[in-house]
Amino acid sequence: MKNSKEYIAEHKDRFLNELIELLKLPSVSADPAFASSTKETAETVAQSLRDAGCDTVEICETPGYPIVYADKIIDKNLPTVLVYGHYDVQPADPIELWDSPPFEPVIKKTDKHPDGAIFARGACDDKGQMYMHVKALEYMVANDRLPCNVKFMIEGEEEVGSANLAWYVEHNQEKLANDVILISDTGMIANDIPSITTGLRGLSYVEVEVTGPNRDLHSGLYGGAVANPINVLSKMIASLHDENNHITVKGFYDKVEELSQLERDKMAEAPFSLENYKKALDIDDVYGEKGYTTNERNSIRPTLDVNGIWGGYTGEGAKTVIASKAYAKISMRLVPNQDWKEITELFKAHFESIAPAGVTVKVTPHHGGQGYVTPIDNVAYQAAEKAYEQTFGKTPIPQRSGGSIPIVALFEKELKSKTILMGFGLDSDAIHSPNEHFGIWNYLKGIETIPYFYQYFTEMSK
Ligand code: BES
Ligand code: MN
Ligand code: MN
Repeated sequence: MKNSKEYIAEHKDRFLNELIELLKLPSVSADPAFASSTKETAETVAQSLRDAGCDTVEICETPGYPIVYADKIIDKNLPTVLVYGHYDVQPADPIELWDSPPFEPVIKKTDKHPDGAIFARGACDDKGQMYMHVKALEYMVANDRLPCNVKFMIEGEEEVGSANLAWYVEHNQEKLANDVILISDTGMIANDIPSITTGLRGLSYVEVEVTGPNRDLHSGLYGGAVANPINVLSKMIASLHDENNHITVKGFYDKVEELSQLERDKMAEAPFSLENYKKALDIDDVYGEKGYTTNERNSIRPTLDVNGIWGGYTGEGAKTVIASKAYAKISMRLVPNQDWKEITELFKAHFESIAPAGVTVKVTPHHGGQGYVTPIDNVAYQAAEKAYEQTFGKTPIPQRSGGSIPIVALFEKELKSKTILMGFGLDSDAIHSPNEHFGIWNYLKGIETIPYFYQYFTEMSK
């Protein structure tokens, strides 16, 4: 019987090639132009789960992209691990900023990845990380090392809000029953500083529209006499933060969970270099809410950010015009106890209340979700910790992340189980950005580590 490291050494090239094939499929869920390859990706994932040894594999149709469900139940009396991941990816644009085409994976060495990294959209988020679980299962089945039951649920709409998965989870509680949920869709501090994600932020995403005059106007004939929606929108957006970078939306902080000084001190022990952080982003200083460190600002504190803003003339040359409308897309990252629906309402009321006479505003909520914090004093976390100790030779640091996977809070509500977030990506892997990549070392380390989680979780659950 081989251990996972030995098995990986023998099958490494195939493991890489299979992932490369998966990355060639442009499964962009946001853009209907990619519908057929997104569906094909679901088929490919389903086939890989069959090949890895699952007994049941289903492609569950939804009004959107299908959910791939698979399981291998070896003994009803043993624990069940439910693996969640997503096969959809973010749009690749702006495509001109990629050094190689986003759906033609290439391997290149980087400072952080001296053994090479696979460059492709979805390499890290989340195809590469999801596929680690498929290969870990292959290893366990092929070597008679699967100690418990396993279920897989891989969706194709994570990047667009998981609306159909939410329905699926609410209506399939028995089928999805499990003892722990395991996800690799986050990151870790560094390859020599393993960490386990213990928190995710919630999200409220809205679009705003400011309307002034009923048509675009000559900016000379009318300029100065009517409200310019773009000027007004800019001013309204600027007023959403005060001079200390606190958010001014009324009631926004009312339910925010404040961390104790002890918890904040503990957080500050995680290795972090502000100098390197600035250097990696080519910025001369960081920026954010007064009274909090960079790591606090991007994890335990809520934020409000404009994601896009448009209106008026943006073509070549100049056009003297006052536009009739201006728009912005705004996201708010939320922390525990903030309710995303309530925050959306608070934002709407506030934004409408600050609109001056002469314009009308419309706020349209998009998707959202609750944040999540996982306790570390339980068998599941301790099993994960032991698994990392085994393969990294170090105890992983618990770390709250700034990103969001809204479905995790719903898992807890509907399936009554905790989630373990074993992420193997790095922040510098450029997820959602041009030149996304995933370290080969990280990919293989994930495959090596995951089977130990199954082993320890099963042993410690007895
Ligand atoms: N995998 C990410 C979330 C993530 C990345 C969490 C790194 C922690 C560390 C996920 O695919 C994602 O992009 N989520 C979206 C929200 C979703 C509703 C579109 C996000 O965080 O913006
Ligand atoms: Mn993801
Ligand atoms: Mn993502």
